[in-house]
Amino acid sequence: MSFITIEGGEGTGKSTLIRGLADAMSVQGKDVVLTREPGGSPGAEDIRTLLVTGEADRWDAMTELLLVNAARRDHVERVIRPALARGATVLCDRYVDSTRAYQGMRGVPRDLIDSIHKQAIGVDPDKTLVLDVPPEQGLTRAAERGGDARFESMGLAYHTKLRDAFLAIAAAEPERCAVLNSTQPKETVLASALALLSA
Ligand code: TMP
Repeated sequence: MSFITIEGGEGTGKSTLIRGLADAMSVQGKDVVLTREPGGSPGAEDIRTLLVTGEADRWDAMTELLLVNAARRDHVERVIRPALARGATVLCDRYVDSTRAYQGMRGVPRDLIDSIHKQAIGVDPDKTLVLDVPPEQGLTRAAERGGDARFESMGLAYHTKLRDAFLAIAAAEPERCAVLNSTQPKETVLASALALLSA
């Protein structure tokens, strides 16, 4: 299992889990690359700043789609592909399922998202862990952490739809995706994730 993505709404504990996975895999002697989206390469991190700062309506949905894909292309070409080619395990905090969920919810057609992904990106995860918490709890956690204001300012109805979008993606691809209940203690979530990845 070499390309693993972690997905979910705001405050679902992705960063905590991914750090735990990276530590556990490093102890097992694996070459692990821990990365994130939007971002993960210098150019993509610059694009991330454009995406996560400013007013909620700063970008329309199509512009957002193009920005996340511009960032992803740079990240994939400069970081992910080379790492996979040398045999490393890549752990990525968010990837194309976030585009399907976030930009899809904003009205971008799914076939356009998938077509750009296929033609401009062309690398799919082997396994995707979707972290799930009730949206109220996720928003509270995200607010406590003081994260990226633009995406977190959208309200509870929005975050409820987002959760449903991630659950639908996971249900449609049960071979690739597993949903983890992230209201459990973080040690339990990590143990479940490690078991799923070694299965
Ligand atoms: P993060 O807070 O998990 O680092 O993610 C930053 C924001 O970027 C998050 O609110 C979701 C958003 N995003 C998209 O809208 N589309 C995408 O394709 C990705 C990867 C992230």
